[in-house]
Amino acid sequence: MTAWQNGPREDPKPCREQDHGRFEVTQRDGRARLGRLHTHHGVLETPALLPVVNPNIRTIEPREMWDNYGIQALITNSYIIWKHEDLRNKAQTDGVHALLDFPGVVMTDSGTFQSYVYGDVEVGVGEIVAFQRSIGVDIATMLDVFSRPDMNEEEVEHAVRETAARATESIEAAGDTMLNGPIQGGLFRPLRHISAQLMGAHPFSVHPIGGIVPVMEQQRYKDYAKIMLASLPLLPPNRPVHMFGCGHPMLFPMSVALGADLFDSAAYALFARDGRLLTPWGTERIDELVDWPMLMPCVASITPTEVRALPAKEKEELLAHYNLEMTLAELARCKQAVRDGKIWQLAEQRSHQHPALREAFLWLTTRPSIQRNLRPEHFYTDRDAARDTNADQGMWEDAWDWVVWSQQTPRSGGVMWGGDDTFVRPQVSKARRALHMRWEPSPSTTHAVVFHGIRGPFRERLKEVLEWMSAHVPQATAFVLTPLGIVPASLEDLNPFAHLDAPQWVLRHPPQGEWVATELQRLGLVDVPFATVDVAGDGMKQRLLEALTSLELPNHVHEPITPEQREHAQQTLRVAQAVDKQMVLLNTSRETASSTAKDGQFVVNREGRVKNINDADGQHLFSPRLRDGGLSLANAGAKALFAHRQAPLPNTLASTAWWGNAAQGPPVVVVDEDAEPFVRKGRNVFHGFVLACDPWLSPGEACLIVNQEGALLGHGLSQCTSTEMGCMKKGIAVKTRAGIED
Ligand code: GUN
Repeated sequence: MTAWQNGPREDPKPCREQDHGRFEVTQRDGRARLGRLHTHHGVLETPALLPVVNPNIRTIEPREMWDNYGIQALITNSYIIWKHEDLRNKAQTDGVHALLDFPGVVMTDSGTFQSYVYGDVEVGVGEIVAFQRSIGVDIATMLDVFSRPDMNEEEVEHAVRETAARATESIEAAGDTMLNGPIQGGLFRPLRHISAQLMGAHPFSVHPIGGIVPVMEQQRYKDYAKIMLASLPLLPPNRPVHMFGCGHPMLFPMSVALGADLFDSAAYALFARDGRLLTPWGTERIDELVDWPMLMPCVASITPTEVRALPAKEKEELLAHYNLEMTLAELARCKQAVRDGKIWQLAEQRSHQHPALREAFLWLTTRPSIQRNLRPEHFYTDRDAARDTNADQGMWEDAWDWVVWSQQTPRSGGVMWGGDDTFVRPQVSKARRALHMRWEPSPSTTHAVVFHGIRGPFRERLKEVLEWMSAHVPQATAFVLTPLGIVPASLEDLNPFAHLDAPQWVLRHPPQGEWVATELQRLGLVDVPFATVDVAGDGMKQRLLEALTSLELPNHVHEPITPEQREHAQQTLRVAQAVDKQMVLLNTSRETASSTAKDGQFVVNREGRVKNINDADGQHLFSPRLRDGGLSLANAGAKALFAHRQAPLPNTLASTAWWGNAAQGPPVVVVDEDAEPFVRKGRNVFHGFVLACDPWLSPGEACLIVNQEGALLGHGLSQCTSTEMGCMKKGIAVKTRAGIED
């Protein structure tokens, strides 16, 4: 047997006892996360799809799912087992894993869905949970009250409150069995909030989002997105979120991008029974097919026509395999996209596959906070129309902030242009907000010159004129226009601004006066006279001359500067860059940044780009990163910035608050004494050892690690937000870059 052939797979190893029930995040891309849920039947890697297995009708054998498809978890219904004596007896004697012949994680539902479909169920709240525990399930579900989208507010509120009222009895009955605490609330945002808060306060292990099956069946994907945004930001982030009954691959990318960890699919079997195929772009009927929508392994040697000729049961079984393979393939695609930092882009691409999905995506990304003149207006088409139909969006800004602020920026790698959607990606919004919140112009700036007209990088083309401007018009600050916004010329290499992979006409789009003024205002330059200069082609100096003339500034651009002036200008520009990068990337005030960079010594590579920034004594402060335009902290830099901190050390694991914390320096993480020796040696900080942190902590950003006495132990890159820091119990909290010995 070779590695790529199927065969029996080993049984899973139980997790360490102390880890049972814990969920750790191993990788993230904004709100999307790859995680590990620790259970007695192995560590479940998320996002995961749990196929629904009806113990009476096993279209695909659970053992085959384990052996051939690497499925680590499935879901079955405890109410069905409870109702059928033979199933119940076997489950109670041999356990649910033996009943199903599945060695991995078994989740069970409680009968709530049956009560939604058939009316009431005759089992008690504590009884059904105790039953699930008695048959050895890994993750049980309490008997929640289903909230349908057609219910009125009063009915839904009853479902929410009654579900919450049943929580304590259910948790007691579960004992040490992990328990699902479903979130109800129908289409009512405040009720989803209440449900998330009430249920989150109990020690559930997983939170399914309930009541969404009819929403998905009716293809109300905008409502589905709203339900996610109304519920997830209020849930404890250390618990996986399960989209109850969501098994259509079409919804995976958007759901994962918004923070979903678990899915379950009965669709693979139900659709197969009906001769329908699941695909990432919708559902197709086998009756109409000549070729497969995608060639999956199970149909590699059989055509749709041949499948149609099969006996009904065989056909159904094969189509169920097809659907399962397709579903798993799309989930794998999502996971890889998270690893590559491209999950939002995948959701964006997939949104074009179905009108209802597109509507949901436009609802998510068309909102007041993404100002219409981020781009020249004529770029807008569908988004303009969507804006008018989404009058409620002002209400959702908090939830959208929850998405935006979790994005890592800067990132390495190119940003692929994908039309207008590019400009409203949360990653782009995060980068723009960080720039606008943190960067402030030098107090001596009285004028602005905005260069445009080429695909970046601008540095080669502008080197000489920037040196000239520094020597002769220091009161004018140079900016460059990128399709993602205007940035100071000192930040021309910053990702994502400088890293857009787009057609020439996007990159070279001429500026519009009103838009330039608005962008400059966002950068703190209100009513500052400005001029724009096209740098493409010959005659750039002449155009700069005209621009400076229009601003009534010195304009002898054709006269060369002296070598001394050049040297001085180069140092000035390097200092300006060190200052600007500290402000935007390390959240320092201009004052602090200027004081650390003032007498800086710059180590430059052969292309003239700064590799290291040292202080006057030659101590290494920072290293500008060429790959993303970022700025890496070195020990002396961490010490210098910590010495400038004015705010007292944080003393709580406060919830996240980014606004209003500009210029306060890199966030501080306070660790306990057990972690101290490890951090000093440069080892990572793990969740569970963090006592406090600043509320502006955000994933991927530099932070300072200190002990309770206020001694600096090291510095690193945060892996989470401050809210997450306060909740997570397992996994890496800070990837330490360097420790600082006593
Ligand atoms: N399956 C699909 N939706 C639901 C729900 O809201 N609650 C429960 N318990 N199971 C479900």
